[in-house]
Amino acid sequence: MMDKASKILVFGAKGLIGAALARRLRQGSFKNLILADSDTLELDNRKKVYDFFAKTRPDYCIIAPIKEGGIVANIRYPAELIYQNLSAQTNIIDSAWRVNVAKLIYLASSCVYPKDCRQPIKEEYLMSGPLELTNAPYAAAKISGIEMCKAYNLQYNTRFISVVPATAYGPGDNFDLNTSHVIPALLAKFHAAKINNTPYVTIWGSGKPKREFIYADDLADAVLFLMRQGRLTEVVNIGTGVDVSISRLAQLIKRTVGFMGKIKFDNEKPDGVARKLLDSGLLFSLGWRPRVSLAQGLLKAYGLYKKSIC
Ligand SMILES: NC(=O)c1ccc[n+]([C@@H]2O[C@H](COP(=O)([O-])OP(=O)(O)OC[C@H]3O[C@@H](n4cnc5c(N)ncnc54)[C@H](OP(=O)(O)O)[C@@H]3O)[C@@H](O)[C@H]2O)c1
Repeated sequence: MMDKASKILVFGAKGLIGAALARRLRQGSFKNLILADSDTLELDNRKKVYDFFAKTRPDYCIIAPIKEGGIVANIRYPAELIYQNLSAQTNIIDSAWRVNVAKLIYLASSCVYPKDCRQPIKEEYLMSGPLELTNAPYAAAKISGIEMCKAYNLQYNTRFISVVPATAYGPGDNFDLNTSHVIPALLAKFHAAKINNTPYVTIWGSGKPKREFIYADDLADAVLFLMRQGRLTEVVNIGTGVDVSISRLAQLIKRTVGFMGKIKFDNEKPDGVARKLLDSGLLFSLGWRPRVSLAQGLLKAYGLYKKSIC
């Protein structure tokens, strides 16, 4: 069982979720941490990854590195993205088995589910329909990661599990408007509008689509909760069980930022899928619940954003 002396290796430790995992582990007094980022080693180099495992001999491993860059990179560099992501996760999963890692958690993504998936999305809907095409290289790499974990469990009796998180936001988020997710993008947009006294903020699309968000520290908490579980559940959704329309989210962010102008919706821009809500019933049935509400999380995230631009 994982205890305070366990050696825990986190890949992607400088990313949004990796950093939240490191914070949570430190808060829990886990001292034996190995935090690997892109300066630590080249994950597409099989020998280097194996040597790293052989030298560090972790008890537990979490895979949270990702090469992505939003829709533009998905379209321009699909070969590079699929190669980097496939090679990194393949090298890590195989090396983890070779050095007898007791448990491994692989972070997948909700893009593994079909484009027009039934809602809320249950783990069993995996591979039940066509994927969103602009995202296919990323989704295919993630599906391969899930299948690889299952195959190793089957053949080698490992305890490798995959988690499918809702969209995360929080400390260390990416606020670059070209590549950011919707929450940091809207926080930055509303903040700029407030500072510049702009009369309105324009939101892409109708505002009707609904999305699910989870505070990064809650997500990290759920990952560590699953790491401690005795039962092997191979694919687990991690969400809050609550979704929100983009229009309601914009209202919440407007209030959080204190912007006094109006919100306009640009109906010429595409909406994307109507709804994306994970069914997190399996995780909840094990006893886990999120702690940070969307309103609280937005307040925290906005405070951190203001600090970061000071
Ligand atoms: N954030 C979300 O909403 C969300 C939702 C669902 C699933 N996920 C999954 O959760 C994981 C973590 O996501 P995130 O949002 O924390 O990502 P992130 O903030 O973009 O961070 C990813 C980290 O991975 C590192 N990285 C990329 N390639 C690497 C390599 N070859 N070797 C070592 N490090 C490498 C990056 O470092 P450099 O920048 O230095 O390359 C970066 O620090 C990913 O697998 C992602 O697909 C995230």
